[in-house]
Amino acid sequence: MERKELVELLQEHNQEHLLWYYDRLTSEKQANLAAQLEKLDWRLLRLSESGNVSRKRGEIKPLTGLNREQIEANREAFEKAGLQAIQQNKAGAVLLAGGQGTRLGCSGPKGNYNIGVTREVYIYELLFGNILEVVHKTATWIPLYIMTSDKTHEETTKFLKEHQYFGYNETYIKFFAQEMNPSVDYEGKLLMEAPDRLSLSPSGNGGWFSSMVKAGLLNDLEARGIEWLNIFAVDNVLQKIADPLFLGATICSGKASGAKVVRKAEPGERIGVLCMEDSKPSIVEYYEMTEAMLQERTPSGELSYSLGVTLNYLFRLDRLKEILSKDLPIHVAEKKIPYLNQKGEYVQPDKPNGYKFEELALDLIPLFEECLPFEVNREEEFAPVKNASDVDSPETARELLKRNHIEL
Ligand code: UTP
Repeated sequence: MERKELVELLQEHNQEHLLWYYDRLTSEKQANLAAQLEKLDWRLLRLSESGNVSRKRGEIKPLTGLNREQIEANREAFEKAGLQAIQQNKAGAVLLAGGQGTRLGCSGPKGNYNIGVTREVYIYELLFGNILEVVHKTATWIPLYIMTSDKTHEETTKFLKEHQYFGYNETYIKFFAQEMNPSVDYEGKLLMEAPDRLSLSPSGNGGWFSSMVKAGLLNDLEARGIEWLNIFAVDNVLQKIADPLFLGATICSGKASGAKVVRKAEPGERIGVLCMEDSKPSIVEYYEMTEAMLQERTPSGELSYSLGVTLNYLFRLDRLKEILSKDLPIHVAEKKIPYLNQKGEYVQPDKPNGYKFEELALDLIPLFEECLPFEVNREEEFAPVKNASDVDSPETARELLKRNHIEL
């Protein structure tokens, strides 16, 4: 695109500031910037006009799932079904590792974080250790797909290679890249990270399946005969991955998706909750719930909305393919976004200065129209590392790891 066309395009969208540095750039860098702008989804910018206002939700009602007692009562049958599916190579796992972990504030990808005290224990080491337990039990390698972003790819791949994938068979690991989205300041002006580059950030964890498809991995899934994908986050260092019990229970339920949930610790816990919305399963964030919903109890005294989601889901591939063309809502999130100012200085703000645009995996649940909530013991399977200190921090996770006899 020539300068004149670029000016017209930017005037149309009220973004002329993107040309502050243009005339000082080499023609190659000018072309870089033009190429980014040509493929930009301008619709995103309109979303930020009203800020990060909360979405309008439908009619919310409580949902009940399989509780721990029911799971125990059926353990044998569930485990048998799950182990069989894994041994028939019907299960794969997808690690969502494109996030920047800004709240934790570590320098590299969160999985590379050393949570050890007297020895090195990396988050990835714990996660790989968990899935390896199932590999050993079933004598079957489970294909592991790892989603990275431009912000995490290089360091993640280098780190895992250096650590020989913590014992995982490299031939069963495949990386794929997620999409990146632009970000804007509070006036809706696109932020830049270099004179020829927009500030791009990972587009959220919701687009993982479409990114897998774009990377050509649907062929790989189909060629291997995979029917189920267990998607999981980096954060929960105690979670069980490709858990035969969870897989078997979901298969036996006949439902096309399942969610590992923990019973909420207290009404105000900051965790998304699985419930019904307009007669479909759905996840409501803690800040979207009214005080009355947070406090509501069943006749036996339990919280009515108690199914806290842990970002560990099972999705059946045939349904994933069916819903691939459906759009997920875009969340406008207020964040600290480093940017280049008019003088060309790189600024790293210490408080939020604009918006990022993200799609979230939790929004897949209503599209599935059916989901099995599967309750796990939070003391044994839920140790998220989200924040640098206090709640859900390395400190709280270490305590839980120690209680589960994991030497740090
Ligand atoms: P979070 O919602 O905790 O986001 O991600 P984050 O970006 O890692 O952390 P903050 O908000 O900056 O502190 C939950 C999971 O989804 C992955 C993360 O890597 C984590 O496993 N994720 C998040 C992606 O894969 N891509 C994204 O764009 C965002």
